[in-house]
Amino acid sequence: MSDTALSAHTPRVFSGVQPSGGLTLGNYLGALKRFVETQESGTETIYCLVDLHAITTWQEPAKLRHATRELAAGFMAAGIDPARSILFNQSQVSAHAEMGWAFNCVARMGWLNRMTQFKDKAGKNRENASVGLFAYPNLMAADILTYHATHVPVGEDQKQHLELTRDIALKFNHDYGVDFFPVVEPVIEGVATRVMSLRDGGKKMSKSDPSDMSRINLTDDAATIAQKFRKARTDPEPLPEAPEELEGRAEARNLVNIYAALADTTPGAVLAEYGGQGFGTFKPALADLAVAKLAPINAEMARLMADPAEIDRMLGAGADRAAALAHPILEAMFGIMGMVRSRQQ
Ligand code: AMP
Ligand code: TRP
Repeated sequence: MSDTALSAHTPRVFSGVQPSGGLTLGNYLGALKRFVETQESGTETIYCLVDLHAITTWQEPAKLRHATRELAAGFMAAGIDPARSILFNQSQVSAHAEMGWAFNCVARMGWLNRMTQFKDKAGKNRENASVGLFAYPNLMAADILTYHATHVPVGEDQKQHLELTRDIALKFNHDYGVDFFPVVEPVIEGVATRVMSLRDGGKKMSKSDPSDMSRINLTDDAATIAQKFRKARTDPEPLPEAPEELEGRAEARNLVNIYAALADTTPGAVLAEYGGQGFGTFKPALADLAVAKLAPINAEMARLMADPAEIDRMLGAGADRAAALAHPILEAMFGIMGMVRSRQQ
């Protein structure tokens, strides 16, 4: 058993994205772009395409396969280097599902009943939601804890799931009288932790929104991006001089935050430049910036998608590396729980 795998407190970053439909600008700014920055900082980084999470709602098999490869291409096009980060799809590493089962027996029904994402996703027809959709946060905790990851960069919407992960780690440690699982830190930082819909500043930008005009997809071409920003909902006032004055102007604030995140600057700096100007000036500038940043990613994704076999090879190699880290931690957990583990590995 390797010491590094089990020394709970070496910084190790883990995050996951579901391959259920394409990537949006929200995923890019709230997750991918920051995953790349973390990789560049030299920290050990593990990124997972969570296909087992995706099937908590119905996925057409051919579409799931395509979405998984496209997501892998999106990660690489955005700057994830499979030599420096571990990049793989979840179902190829069985430790996730195995630890997820153990956590089904650690987490309490009451904890999961409080998860707002389940309520949102299950909607009115809760009786008909899959059991997997309900238990999903336990699997997410397993994703993180089977690597003894310490830091998890995510968007704002995942905060509650990370609190549950901490509760599971603490309860396990307490029940078995061990100091085994680290208590993870959510990393919810930057100006774009919650990118909002372009049609409604009160809703987050999401790949599942029925209106395509509500989001920028990483696969949108330049003309589409420009059109979506031009038609984005705003108010008739010009932009203010200071970020505080964006209070109560959700749509305006969202566009300023998007600009700041794309330009690697702050909302204050954006307003120093555009304060006093109307959206007639700001929207085209934002569209130009978005196209300049997204077009190279878009082109690189298309190039990578031309060779799906190479993507699959990369995912397989990533899964081998991930499994080598996860396996000793899973074995140690089962040992703590009293499972007889006598196969020759
Ligand atoms: P999902 O696409 O729901 O699997 O989310 C993948 C990652 O992108 C998670 O870290 C989310 O928190 C993040 N994310 C999704 N939508 C947004 C958004 N509109 N703004 C910021 N981050 C987001
Ligand atoms: N639940 C996350 C989402 O919907 C995806 C996810 C699954 C994840 N496992 C994870 C994120 C582990 C961070 C860490 O966006």
